[in-house]
Amino acid sequence: MQTPTFPSDFLWGVSTSAFQIEGAVDEDGRGPSTWDTFTATPGKIAGGEHARVAADHYHRYREDVALMAALGVGAYRLSIAWPRIQPDGKGAANPAGLGFYDRLIDELADAGITPMITLYHWDTPQALEDAGGWLSRDTAERFGDYAAIVGERFADRVNLWIPLNEPMVTSIYGYAIGQYAPGHFMLLDAIPTAHHQHLAHGLAVQALRAAGAKTVGTANNHGPIWPASDSAADVEAARQLDALVNRLYADPVLLGSYPEEYAGHLPDGYAADLPTIAQPLDFYGVNYYEPQVAAAPSEGNPLTFDLRPVEGYPMTNNDSPIVPDAFRELLVGMRERYGDALPPIHITENGCSFPDVVGDDGRVRDPERVAFLRDHLSALREAMDAGVDVRGYFVWSLLDNFEWSKGYAPRFGLVHVDFETQVRTPKDSFGWYRDVVRGHRAR
Ligand code: FCB
Repeated sequence: MQTPTFPSDFLWGVSTSAFQIEGAVDEDGRGPSTWDTFTATPGKIAGGEHARVAADHYHRYREDVALMAALGVGAYRLSIAWPRIQPDGKGAANPAGLGFYDRLIDELADAGITPMITLYHWDTPQALEDAGGWLSRDTAERFGDYAAIVGERFADRVNLWIPLNEPMVTSIYGYAIGQYAPGHFMLLDAIPTAHHQHLAHGLAVQALRAAGAKTVGTANNHGPIWPASDSAADVEAARQLDALVNRLYADPVLLGSYPEEYAGHLPDGYAADLPTIAQPLDFYGVNYYEPQVAAAPSEGNPLTFDLRPVEGYPMTNNDSPIVPDAFRELLVGMRERYGDALPPIHITENGCSFPDVVGDDGRVRDPERVAFLRDHLSALREAMDAGVDVRGYFVWSLLDNFEWSKGYAPRFGLVHVDFETQVRTPKDSFGWYRDVVRGHRAR
């Protein structure tokens, strides 16, 4: 299959996040985050791995920007670590924390790469978690203050802004089922954390715009939900899961309303916050990995659905089924549901992990990743041909990195990282993506 072509002004990029690559967790006044606490808790991370060094990007950012320059991408999606800027999550900014991102943004500018900045990719300052974290409305207010600090410092040099990455993952994995920091097991009692993150988003959009930010969006993880069968009970279960993982996150931001299925679990008085939450956005970031299958709940399940494996597709080593056509289905479905309320889309994450190794000849052969990216770009092109307005595509990820509770085994990078030596080796997929980007630049 040929790689499809995209408009000449299409934005090609790569994504990372602070906690997954930076390391240097005790340097230059950074405070502890929920993920430092979580990784230090026995039994939470595969193999007891931690991110105290990760890909050592804090010290090697120049080398990593040079890699991006060689790749030819026009944009780089990174996240700022809140605990570097406000070590306790409130109060005056830590100049050394701002200084790191200053240097990184300047380095990117010199390389002609536009930064897309995420303010929060899950690393909550531990002091805020101790005061209730996302269960507390105050965390949203604190986030608004943090957004103002960062906006005032960088709005002149950063064009693309995302307040929070994937609030669904924080609510569900972090608070409902405890697989991610902060590790609570609250099931549906976790739903107020979604509302407080939405409020944080709205307050941050206001603060960023007040600071002069031009292009502000969001980034949510979405995937189509398929019923296990045509039975009415399975179809209803799929609708329930769709409300919980997709609509609970897109509707408040885009439509200013909550799906009725879970509204009963929201904090009292939530409706008064909806106008703040539904700020007009310049783009909507979609992170796509996979579809999910739901069936009617089995006996004793307190939820309204069972999850079933998605069968019949090849899998990544992160247990994700590889289903490019579900990417097209998702985007076309979003366009149908949200219509003109949906701003232009950036694909802010898409990628896959395999146990990539450096061969004796120094090469990393990852044909599965090349096929994955090519097939997902084809599905994206089909969605665009069907009328979905997509402006950019960011591969997750530039580098192999710390994949949360799975540690370092899932390798998502276009660049292989040897975590013993920190040697970076561009994989075959790096060369492939470089040629795709170059080919479009030359058009
Ligand atoms: C997304 C996260 C990102 C990474 C990828 C694989 O949900 O935003 O940090 O872990 O999954």
